Amino acid sequence: MARILVVGSLNMDTVLEVAHLPAPGETVLSRSKHLVPGGKGANAAFAAGRLGGDAALLGCVGRDEPGRLLLESLRGAGVDVSGVRQLENVDTGCAVIQVEDSGENCITVAQGANLYTNEAFVQDHEETIDACEVLLLQLEIPFSGVLAAAERAHAHGKTVILDPAPARMDLPEALFRAADYVKPNQGELSLLTGCDPEEYVAGAHRLQQKGARNVLVSLGEQGAYLLEEDGRETRIPAYVAGPTVDTTAAGDCFTAAFACGLCRGLSRQEAVRFAAVAAGIAVTRKGAQPSIPILEEVLAHYS
Ligand code: RIB
Repeated sequence: MARILVVGSLNMDTVLEVAHLPAPGETVLSRSKHLVPGGKGANAAFAAGRLGGDAALLGCVGRDEPGRLLLESLRGAGVDVSGVRQLENVDTGCAVIQVEDSGENCITVAQGANLYTNEAFVQDHEETIDACEVLLLQLEIPFSGVLAAAERAHAHGKTVILDPAPARMDLPEALFRAADYVKPNQGELSLLTGCDPEEYVAGAHRLQQKGARNVLVSLGEQGAYLLEEDGRETRIPAYVAGPTVDTTAAGDCFTAAFACGLCRGLSRQEAVRFAAVAAGIAVTRKGAQPSIPILEEVLAHYS
């Protein structure tokens, strides 16, 4: 049974490289087009697998070529995909990602088969949830599935880590209460709390008032900020492994690496540093899953 379980999305990403992201109403020409395995859930599971985390993924794909390629990619990272359902007559999820020269991106997702990773699906996999140590969740599947998985895992004493992406304003406090860690970036935290993105410390405290215990805010080039349940605050600098070329999946990699760090017995602070190194390497490479480092690379940079 896997120690790190992800219940989440799988997408085939169409990546378009552009000089700058288009403004509303603007048309820009892309230099290139690549198909890359992605999806926030799959990326997190892939990262946990590559980082030696003993990982499994629960989710849904269509019985089509993108679905087959996604499963192949995950298996290649050592992820147990026996709980990924292949659905007839439904398209695998897909994302269109525009990446500009600075490495920033803009993503649109068509959920497709991910819409079937709902409460009923989660109920069919309760035994798998009961057997994991750490559950990783994002918000690219129906909310009923996210909440059911979080509450089941929480009730069985699992460590629940919620990456509230893509962000939405209407998250109930029940979800925060079921999570041990909530890991937004600044934009997501702002949407969740109404705080200005620069006021992330106030935002983290506000999230605690909504029921979150530990809040881990990823700050891009500024690193990360951890607010623990006892009020302890820690700032962890970003790790610069090279020039940023593409930030896609850096957040997924960060959250999964944090989970792997905890499973390796690191303290929370050390696990955040481990995660910062993994994400710092990921942003120097293109694409979602292909950008994610293996354990040996992270350990070589982490001391
Ligand atoms: O977090 C990056 C991911 O977001 C991409 O791989 C894309 O599929 C979207 O889900």
